[in-house]
Amino acid sequence: MPVEDGIAALKPDMTDWRRYLHAHAETAFQERETAAFVAARLREFGIEVHEGLAGTGVVGTLRNGDGPAIGLRADLDGLPIAEETGLPYASKHAGRMHACGHDGHTAMLLGAARHLAQTRRFAGTVQFIFQPAEENEGGARVMIEQGLFERFPVRQVFGMHNWPAMPAGHFAVRAGPLMAACDTFEITVSGTGCHGAMPHFGFDAIVAAAALVSTLQTIVSRAVDPLEAAVVSVTQIHAGDTWNVLPARAVLKGTIRTFQPAVRERIESALTRIAEGTAAAHGCRAEVHYLRHYPATVNAAAETELAAAVAEHIVGAARVIRNPPPTTGSEDFAFMLQVTPGCYIWIGSGRGREDPSLHSPHYDFNDDILPVGASYWVKLVETGLA
Ligand code: NI
Repeated sequence: MPVEDGIAALKPDMTDWRRYLHAHAETAFQERETAAFVAARLREFGIEVHEGLAGTGVVGTLRNGDGPAIGLRADLDGLPIAEETGLPYASKHAGRMHACGHDGHTAMLLGAARHLAQTRRFAGTVQFIFQPAEENEGGARVMIEQGLFERFPVRQVFGMHNWPAMPAGHFAVRAGPLMAACDTFEITVSGTGCHGAMPHFGFDAIVAAAALVSTLQTIVSRAVDPLEAAVVSVTQIHAGDTWNVLPARAVLKGTIRTFQPAVRERIESALTRIAEGTAAAHGCRAEVHYLRHYPATVNAAAETELAAAVAEHIVGAARVIRNPPPTTGSEDFAFMLQVTPGCYIWIGSGRGREDPSLHSPHYDFNDDILPVGASYWVKLVETGLA
């Protein structure tokens, strides 16, 4: 695979680092061994190290002359999954696994850090941002709240994720929304419990909840502009304990995905209105808790052009997919893009066969792309801080 000069030679070390991290997978905000490993490598490379932001976050600062600053971000965390790969370097930590390739992301950024510290063909400052808790817990948001960009100001920030559905040696990137905003909801429907044989003595929370599941599906079809994309999914229903009692309560939970802030607003208000109205129609009450998790991941135009040009330099224009369809998955790098212009790119990691998907217990990062990803980071710095 095409790589920058000198980076192919880093592959054995990057592979060792990646497999060490894989074997020592840690989950959100618990990445202590991982953070210590990253900090130790950065110090070996002669890079200034700052630990403790968001607990287990690590920032490495590399200065070379006068110029602007650029932020490169990798994520440190694994997932609460029991690994089933059977690999010699499978997770030694029961129930914790690098099933999203963040071990590979960290290894690629470490490889780039080492190369940049040696070659220094740029003018300015590189902030290597190793963030905890990308999965579910919003480690990027916590780093920002704790002063990431005040302590380590950058003009632009860049992120990357491996993409098994795309062949290794490819990139894909688009300006504007690339990944969705992710929200969750919990609706408690309260009726009046009674004998299952005499429903007329109560108000049935189960029938109200069932009606609500169907009616919530009208949000996307009736409340959202047909030209906008959105997902409303009820993913849990909890009610009842036995076969002859109508319970007093039913609880529904689910997730909402959107790309535009206005659509997000509209869905939150429609969900509340429909829940309360549908419950009332069945003699019940609905209490709605709507929680906003990650915003949409929105790439800035100029930084996307830079990222795409760098990717084309590495793998050739034919292997860089411009304007791929966005995905309804989400990503907490979105918080960084809310406050600093930047670009999040997908790097193909498919092996040309049936690859286990991200978050599968059979997933394993494709080490063949380590030099490709590290080359992208190096060239991005050399171009952005020319
Ligand atoms: Ni991930």
